[in-house]
Amino acid sequence: MCNRYSAILIRLFAAMILMSAGAAASAAGQAIRPDDTGLSKESVFAVPTPKVYSYGTAQPGEGKVLPRAYQGAPPQISHDISEFLPITSQSNLCIACHDQPGEWGKKLEAGAATPMPPSHYTDLRNAPGKVTDQMINARFNCNLCHVAQTNAPALVENTFPSGHRR
Ligand code: HEC
Ligand code: HEC
Repeated sequence: MCNRYSAILIRLFAAMILMSAGAAASAAGQAIRPDDTGLSKESVFAVPTPKVYSYGTAQPGEGKVLPRAYQGAPPQISHDISEFLPITSQSNLCIACHDQPGEWGKKLEAGAATPMPPSHYTDLRNAPGKVTDQMINARFNCNLCHVAQTNAPALVENTFPSGHRR
């Protein structure tokens, strides 16, 4: 009995030694250079000047609605917002155009602002099922979720096909 156990133990130890030797050998084979650790193509020690990218210049009413990343994703802002920022507690110009619950379900005229959807009038924390007639303040800072698109190329190509528009 005793002998059988020690034979098993010896085999186990031998296997462990072989495994750790293998791991050390493969780690030594593919050392990671500091330049290869991030998405930047430059050395981590370089201080590159970032390229300048710009936002679209279409004004509200001229913008072309952008495809949605996936169903339920906050739509990207299709127009210039430089004149409407910053959003402060005193001033939110986004609401001036987008707070139009009366337009829900109606066909929008060309150039009309898309009404904020019923989800923005629902207190998801305290009364999730109830659509109110007031925008819920948790949505006040639009830029928390909605962003305008720049002409910056994607750092990593995205092959996820959503095909979702609205
Ligand atoms: C002067 C009116 C006006 C103001 C102010 C305005 N918008 Fe818009 N917005 C529009 C119109 C009109 C559209 C329809 C598409 C277009 O013309 O770009 C639109 C489209 C959008 C869309 C795209 C909706 C979709 O279905 O894809 C988002 C998101 C949006 N606006 C967010 C904002 C945010 C956030 C602000 C404030 C920083 C803002 N808007 C300020 C008029 C306005
Ligand atoms: C917490 C995140 C969040 C905030 C803050 C937020 N939104 Fe949205 N918004 C969304 C999401 C997610 C959608 C798409 C899903 C949906 O309908 O709820 C959306 C949809 C929209 C749409 C498209 C409606 C349609 O019928 O296609 C408009 C316009 C919009 N939001 C405007 C605004 C404006 C203006 C503000 C600021 C007053 C704002 N949102 C704040 C997440 C947000």
